[in-house]
Formats: sequence, structure tokens, C-alpha cells
Amino acid sequence: MPQQRRDGSNATRRDDKTTAIQVVREKPILREIVQAWSRQGLRIGVVPTMGALHRGHLALLDRARMTCDRVVVSIFVNPTQFGPNEDFAAYPRDEAGDLDKLRDGGTDLVWMPGVDAMYPPGYVTEVSVKDLGDGLCGEFRPGHFAGVATVVTKLLLQTGADQAFFGEKDYQQLQVIRRVALDLDIATEIIAVETVREADGLALSSRNAYLSTRERDIAARLPSVLREIAETATGQSVVLASMLLAAKAKLLAAGFDSIDYLHVCDATTLRPVETVTGPARVLVAARLGKTRLIDNMPVIPQSGGTPGLA
Ligand code: PAF
Repeated sequence: MPQQRRDGSNATRRDDKTTAIQVVREKPILREIVQAWSRQGLRIGVVPTMGALHRGHLALLDRARMTCDRVVVSIFVNPTQFGPNEDFAAYPRDEAGDLDKLRDGGTDLVWMPGVDAMYPPGYVTEVSVKDLGDGLCGEFRPGHFAGVATVVTKLLLQTGADQAFFGEKDYQQLQVIRRVALDLDIATEIIAVETVREADGLALSSRNAYLSTRERDIAARLPSVLREIAETATGQSVVLASMLLAAKAKLLAAGFDSIDYLHVCDATTLRPVETVTGPARVLVAARLGKTRLIDNMPVIPQSGGTPGLA
């Protein structure tokens, strides 16, 4: 059972372990703790999450521990980044399981605000990122990146983090957040962490839990098709348009229901390119039953060619 401390935070304890994890739900308490850390000259890292933690999140945490003295993991299923017909209500939530996973991973504080703490009554301010947030997933999920940019801006300000850690699996999100930090003079360093994959290549995602056994088998085709493109897309002579058409046909033949997009893009601006002559990324979103899967990979430069790794 969570125990109420005198400062209002909760120390969740398990009888079989001595390890305590500090769970904070109120902004003034969070502020007091992180300001005290800053006064002591400690380097603060934040790992923003929506919970339903998996090994991908734990890799972010491991990376944060390498360069930060104190690590805050935030768990907040952010309503503003879900569209009206999306899976906000169904999004997997497992507070006890998440805290168990964090307990031995070196988390100093879990920031778990309620919706009212995050969005005070009457809130009207939004961070929107033109262009970068409009294409790819932005086209199919209108308002999604404004929701992400707003909540991440708030999390960076709330935690006063020196570094924040995001997975490359959500590559467009990563680029949007980098842009926000640059444009709004937020001093937090944004650190990208490589995608963690299952043995068959499927990128870890909380939404993989929606897949049936049959769908899970089909899903493994997504990274293998991406890899083929990543390995062969570089060069003036490559006709990307026909390569991408053939790849879409392969995914549909494998059992995907539809493909929202499959593009090779400039690795920074995320504008689709016709030929790969510099750092580029292949990005996909495809639907399988009720699950929408996204993934991406850096386009591999040909030996002796222009580096294509982002
Ligand atoms: O990647 C996620 O889990 C979310 O989009 C984030 C960054 C925690 C913002 O809600």
C-alpha cells in the first residue's frame, strides 16, 4: 500500500523488498524535490512515458542513469495527444506493474500527475509545431503532435531536467521535441535512444499488446520490409517511388489491412525525398486489425557514399 509521507508524496513499499520508490502526484512537491536536487548541483534526467512499461522504456532509464545523478520517470497517459476516435480509454494502464518494473531500475522519483494537475481547469495554451508535425503521423492523427509537444514542454519545465530521453521508435515525435526545445530555448538536452526490438525485429511498443497471435506473426514483416529499404535506398540511380510501391504491396500481401504511409525522408526535416543523397530515414505506419504500428530505420549509406545515418 502507498504510504503518505509528511511532505505529501507517496513512498510505495513492498513487504518482500526494502527498496522504496518515491511516487509524486502534486506539482508543488515535485518542484520542491527537483529544486533541492538542483541546489545540490545534481544532474537531473527525465524519462517521459505513458506507462505500460516495457524493455524499451527500461533502456531509456538505463541510458539516463549513465549521465544523470537523479532520474525522474513520468507516467501520464496524455489525453491531448489522442484523437476522438483513438484508443485513449483502452490504452494499457498498469500502475502497480509499472512501479514494480521501476523499483530496481534506479528510478529516484516517479512523477504521476492526474489530468487536473497536468491541465489546470481553464487551460488554453498549446505548443504546436508546424510542418514537422503536419506530415507522416500528423496527417493521420490531427492534433497529435500538438498534444505531445505541449505535454513534453510541461514535463521538461516541471522537472527542470538537464537531459530528457526519448526512443527513436517514435522518430517523428523525437524530431518534433528537438524542434520545440530549440525554438522555445528550453535548455534540456534531448537524448535519442535506439529502438529496442524483439528477436524477430518487431519494435517494442505498448500497443503490441493489442495484437492477436496471428497479427503478431504478420507484424514481424514490418521491420524486415523496412530493413530491405534501409539497405538499398541510397544513391541517385535508385528509383525510390517504385521501391516503396513494391514494399507496400509486400506488406498488404503479408496481411496488413492498410498502410497510412511509407516514405523515405530527410532525417531532420522529415520531408519525403525522391533520392537519398544525405542522412535519411525510412518511416512507416501500417494498420493491422485494431492496431496501428509505426516503425522507422536509418537509411544505410553505401560504402564510400554519403553518410546516411541520422
Ligand atoms: O512516447 C510517449 O510515450 C509519449 O508520447 C510521451 C513522450 C510520454 C508524451 O506523452
